Amino acid sequence: MQKIIIAIDGFSSSGKSTMARELARNIGYAYIDSGAMYRAVTLYALRHGMIDADGRMDAERLVASLPDIRIDFRVDDTTGKSRTCLNGEDVEDEIRGMEVSSHVSPVAAIPEVRHRLVSLQQEYGRDKGIVMDGRDIGTTVFPNAEMKIFVNASPEVRAHRRLLELQQKGSSADYEEVLANIRERDHIDRTRKESPLRQADDAILLDNDNMTHQEQMDFLLKTFRHIVDGKH
Ligand code: DC
Repeated sequence: MQKIIIAIDGFSSSGKSTMARELARNIGYAYIDSGAMYRAVTLYALRHGMIDADGRMDAERLVASLPDIRIDFRVDDTTGKSRTCLNGEDVEDEIRGMEVSSHVSPVAAIPEVRHRLVSLQQEYGRDKGIVMDGRDIGTTVFPNAEMKIFVNASPEVRAHRRLLELQQKGSSADYEEVLANIRERDHIDRTRKESPLRQADDAILLDNDNMTHQEQMDFLLKTFRHIVDGKH
């Protein structure tokens, strides 16, 4: 069967990564979490003192260091989930913490960072058969993707989901702090000059505030089959 590219974009903590990963597993496609790549670059910047305590960033130094930053994904044999590696080190857990979360948006707004990561992402999609989630996958990375989904949910619902996720990992975060972080990231992601977050004209909107996980999966699988069947 002919393989396609599936782009899933949307706001942070909208549940898109979980859905994208599960969809990929269901249909036997590769899954790439593009947000993890921006998070890994942010962790590199934090570790190398390029972001100070007040959040000021030495963007010039970060851009000059881009050739030294290698990001790849390895599949965990026990869980079957992919883990993000930065220069060979598994940083999957560290990139999900609050420190990286609160500095990633300005890093993702640097044009040179975006250019580098976008070309890596396009490389991953060369042979199709891929589900990629992010903010600009349907608009910039793969404007010709055969299936485009834009996921949305209210900031409050997303803050609750994120809080639960953090608590399950043993982090102590407070709801108001998480909500403020989500609102701030939404604002930066939506208003940045380079590839702002927006729904592609040909993307299908999935508003999941009141949808169960199963309903969302059914919707995605139905859409996928419809598109693939239509290609024959
Ligand atoms: O999906 P996430 O929360 O892990 O994304 C982390 C950050 O990276 C978020 O601030 C938006 C940014 N991002 C982006 O600008 N473009 C993408 N394709 C994916 C993520």
